[in-house]
Amino acid sequence: MAQPRILILGAPGAGKGTQSANITDEFDVDHITTGDALRANKDMDISDMDTEYDTPREYMDQGELVPDAVVNAIVDEALNQADGFVLDGYPRNLEQAEELQDMTDLDVVLYLDVGEEELIHRLTGRRMDPETGDIYHVEYNPPEDPEVEARLEQRDDDTEETVKERLRVFRDNTEPVIEYYEDAGVLERVEGEQAPDEVWEDVKATIEDAA
Ligand code: AP5
Repeated sequence: MAQPRILILGAPGAGKGTQSANITDEFDVDHITTGDALRANKDMDISDMDTEYDTPREYMDQGELVPDAVVNAIVDEALNQADGFVLDGYPRNLEQAEELQDMTDLDVVLYLDVGEEELIHRLTGRRMDPETGDIYHVEYNPPEDPEVEARLEQRDDDTEETVKERLRVFRDNTEPVIEYYEDAGVLERVEGEQAPDEVWEDVKATIEDAA
């Protein structure tokens, strides 16, 4: 498989961003992530799209989904520019899953399976380096360089209250998407509650098997 088209699914904090970074390095594909794209455009004016709020920020800071029309347009444009990709953060509801089916074929659909208690622990302890975008965790994966440690930031939506709302939104909207791919017989479940390197071994083997 020269340029695989990979979908990575998982709850908030399951490790999609962490494993997508490994996938892009190993398989030389684009990382298409709706979360990062929306964070970079949090204050764009979406009022002409008949939405409840005028910018993505209001939805994201409350842990709610940004309206489909906004996200579908971002993904459609990114997919048009990519040969191979790992798609992370989309689809998050059945409408988006149906939309994606019209946009592209997929070679692999991965699901990182992690329990809720661990998800809360991972998200509330996550920190980001604003200069490089690298992801750390205060306990599982702290930076070695004290200069990096001093500049780490917490994401606005990683507070305990917003994390709980994001997990509720995942249960209500995205679990049906997992079932959708499971029913289609294409879902590759990966045990996400292992150490990051062990998760990566399983992710890599699953992608290679699909070649
Ligand atoms: P988004 O940015 O997509 O966030 P998310 O899905 O909630 O996922 P995260 O980025 O929080 O987690 P992750 O799975 O990437 O975990 P990570 O690798 O960082 O979306 C944010 C918001 O944007 C949404 O709430 C919504 O408002 C909007 N949005 C985005 N897409 C949308 C869409 N399609 N439709 C509508 N709205 C949309 O890991 C987490 C932590 O755990 C890190 O600290 C990491 O170091 C650590 N870690 C990772 N793996 C392991 C491991 N194996 N063991 C121990 N620690 C680990």
